[in-house]
Formats: sequence, C-alpha cells, structure tokens
Amino acid sequence: MNLSMESRSPAKIETPALVSYVFEKDDRIQGALVELDNAAGGRLKRLAETGELTGKLLEMTFVHELPGVAASRVLLVGAGKPDKFDGAVLRRVAAAALRWLRAKSVTRMTFLLREGERTAAGSQAAIEGLLLGAFDSDFYKTEKKNGKVMEAVALAPGEGGAAAEIEQGMARGRILAEAQNFTRTLVNEPSNRLTPRILADRAVEMARQAGLSIDVLDETRIAELKMGALLSVAQGSAEPPRVIVVTYTPAQLKPGAPVLGLVGKAVTFDTGGISIKPSDGMEKMKYDMAGGAAMLGAMKALAALKPAIKVIAVIPATENMPGGKAQKPGDVQFAMSGKSIEVINTDAEGRLILADGITYAKRLGCTHLVNAATLTGAIVVALSNINAGVFTNNPEWQEKVLASARRAGEKMWPMPLDDDYRDLIKSTIADIQNVGSGRGGGASVGAAFIREFTDDTPWVHLDIAGTAWLDEQKPWAAKGPTGIAVRTLADLAMSLS
Ligand code: BES
Ligand code: ZN
Ligand code: ZN
Repeated sequence: MNLSMESRSPAKIETPALVSYVFEKDDRIQGALVELDNAAGGRLKRLAETGELTGKLLEMTFVHELPGVAASRVLLVGAGKPDKFDGAVLRRVAAAALRWLRAKSVTRMTFLLREGERTAAGSQAAIEGLLLGAFDSDFYKTEKKNGKVMEAVALAPGEGGAAAEIEQGMARGRILAEAQNFTRTLVNEPSNRLTPRILADRAVEMARQAGLSIDVLDETRIAELKMGALLSVAQGSAEPPRVIVVTYTPAQLKPGAPVLGLVGKAVTFDTGGISIKPSDGMEKMKYDMAGGAAMLGAMKALAALKPAIKVIAVIPATENMPGGKAQKPGDVQFAMSGKSIEVINTDAEGRLILADGITYAKRLGCTHLVNAATLTGAIVVALSNINAGVFTNNPEWQEKVLASARRAGEKMWPMPLDDDYRDLIKSTIADIQNVGSGRGGGASVGAAFIREFTDDTPWVHLDIAGTAWLDEQKPWAAKGPTGIAVRTLADLAMSLS
C-alpha cells in the first residue's frame, strides 16, 4: 500500500474518497469539517440536523459528489463521545474506514486528520490504523480479490499541524504497523507451513533485511546446552526444535545500561501431546507461537527505531505432538537451570519451553525480562479477548510495561502472583510440577511456574492466549491474528533508552 502526505486544503483534495471523523455531540460540524461544509453549501450541517449523521462510534456516513468539494465522495466516520476519544479510538476509526471503503471497491483514499490530532501521536495512530486495517487472513484463497484492494492512502494533516512532526509520526506508525503485520503474517500461517525450522528461516530473512544479528540453535546445540525442558516437549515430534536468538545492539552502548530480554513462546502447533486436546477447535493451536512471533515483530520495529539499549529476543520453537517418543504424564525432566520438573500434564508445555528460554536469556546477559506466551485457557476465562494478563516478580518493572501498553494503545491488565501460588506447584518427586495441584487460578499458576526460572531478575509475563487471536472480525480488524504486544514491547525498549 502506497502512503503519502496530502497538503491541499480539505475541499480541494481530489480523491475517490475523502475520510474524516465526527464526534457525538450537539455541535458536530466543526473545525476542518466547517471548511468542507462551507464549500458544500451547508449540506453536512443539514445532514447532522436530520439525525442521519450522529457521530456515534464507527457510524459510517457516505456522501457522494458534494458540490464545491473536489473529492468524489466523503466518508464521515463516527468518533464517539469526545471525552472517550484517544489514540486507540483514532486507530480504530482509521482502520474501520479503510475496511469499509475497500469493501465498496474503493482503491484510493485520503484520511483527513482533525484539529486535535495534527501531531506526531495523531498521525502515528492514524497510519497504524490504516495499515493494520488493511491486513487480511485470506492468504491461501486462490480466487482474485476483484479490485477490493486499497492501493494508496494519503494522510491530510490539514492546516496548523507541524509538517516535520507529522512526518515523524507517520514514519513511526508505519514502522510499528508493518512490524505488527509481520507478526500477524507469521501467526496466521498453518503449522504445515510454519514448522520450527521454517519459523527460524523467516526470522533469519527478517533479521538480514533489518540489519539485526541472529543465531539459530539447532537440536544439537540445544542438547549441548542441556535445555531439557524444551527438549522434553520437542521429543514427541518428528520436527526438530529451534531456539531463535535475535540481537539488536545500539551504535553506542552505555556501560551499566539495561539489556532487555524478550522471550517468546513459539509452539508452532499444540496438540497437547499425550495429554491430548479435544479435536473441537484444535486447528486454532497453530497460533500457539504468537508470543515468539510478537518478539520477532518487536525486533523488526526496533531495528528501525534504534533504541539506545541492547535488546535480545530468545524464542524457543517446537511442536507439541503425541508421537511414540513423546514425554508422558509423570515424567521427570531437568531444565537448563538444573531444576527438576515433574510433567503432570504434557499440555502445559509453554511454561516448559519458556523455562529454558528465560535461563538462556539470562545467560546471554539480559538484565530485564519480558516474556509473551499464549500460555493458558484460564486467562481467556478471566479476561476474554479484551486484555492480556500481566504477571511479575517486580512491580516497578511491571509498571513500566503497563505504561508502555497504555501509550501503545494495547490493553493489558495486572494479575496477581503472590508467593502463595508457589505452594500449588510443589511436586512429591521433583522440585516443581508443571501444573497446579488444585483446579483454580490456572493463569497465575502458569506464571508461578515460569517465575521459578527468573531468579529475581526483573520479569514480566504477558499471557496473550485470549488476545493474540480474534475469533470474529471487527469493523476495524480481520478475524485471525492480532499481533498483540508488538507495539508495547517496541515502546518499552524506546522508553528504557
Ligand atoms: N496453548 C495452550 C493455551 C491456550 C489455550 C492458548 C487457549 C490459546 C487458547 C497451553 O499450552 C495449554 O494447553 N495450557 C493448558 C494448561 C493446563 C494443562 C494447566 C490450559 O490452559 O488448559
Ligand atoms: Zn498446551
Ligand atoms: Zn500451548
């Protein structure tokens, strides 16, 4: 999709579709819309008076051939109540506009920013929305899209915005949205087309293009490092595991600066192993690598944003299969850290591979850790697909991550992880067991297990099982992978530098 900036004033912009947004309030035709309305002889005001144009969130009002307006059509998107309006709403407004117009076979559009958003942050959110809205999951459909492709989008900042600031926002928005869509592309791939080895190849390709260094550990090196927890999951599959390590090093490294470690769960398919999952809905378990893919997306963004700190992504990748060599409930495994684990349930495999991923990230010198994982069904029960669950061993570090999530417009919510949860993973035979002894608190139990491998290194765990996949399409987003956490992690790295 071609992106550009449009500097003509609103009524003079020649485009198949000029888009702007309207707030839900009495005096709706204001600011930039006044100019359009004046040019069109008051037709917009009259539309508002009839009650057709209300400004309700994501209401679409499409006006054709307004006299005095150069654009062939004007789309006014409802932006809802002004006091609820922020970057997240703008992102959705822009995304929904693009998807709505595209469905009507519009191939070029111009998005007009309103008075309040003619800033770096405003243009960034709009560009993010437009690019994220353009994503679709229909990768393997063979029929043509019969013209339903948005080819070019222009952003019109109107008058009064500082062009340099707006261009900077656009550039940032593009970097972040393209990184997030890269993550979504990986997550959308079915497991036959994205094995651990293929994921590693895709990571190598991305790292080469972005100028990042990359090291892919194969099964031999994984065994040499004694990553017994990861190997225990991988042993049931014919596909060998990989550990993907992507490193960003800033031009100037300050001594004593933090080293951020991003550890992502990449189970390219989770059957559950011998503790096999029910077949209903099992096809969705191709997205069990969304945590790892989020880390790759974040690294792609950081290569362009260039924070002043070192960032290392560690992505353990494997299938979880019930093959003849698969581990069995009750088996005892030794993690890379030396801790022994009784594997009560082979379907709680994410925490096993993260255990070794975290140990390795610390060995590589990471001083601060964030992991992302589609870890538990329990977090879906607790938070649905609305918020990611956030767990920590260090409240200050968690607050930094949550602040980044707020700035990035990604919903995340803190969840409890008191020491008492440790009691639930006591094993009779080994140091710990991989599931809780009771039924409740599954998301915190999963987090408590991972915590055992952090050894007090500041750590945050993002459980994205509910938020990494959208089961039904929204006006602003396709059904399928969301790319959650990419923008938050990129913001986090930038905020530390
Ligand atoms: N990959 C699943 C978690 C999951 C569930 C992701 C739903 C996305 C949607 C994970 O490996 C798993 O199976 N977890 C088990 C843990 C249980 C056995 C303690 C779960 O949540 O049921
Ligand atoms: Zn599982
Ligand atoms: Zn899993």
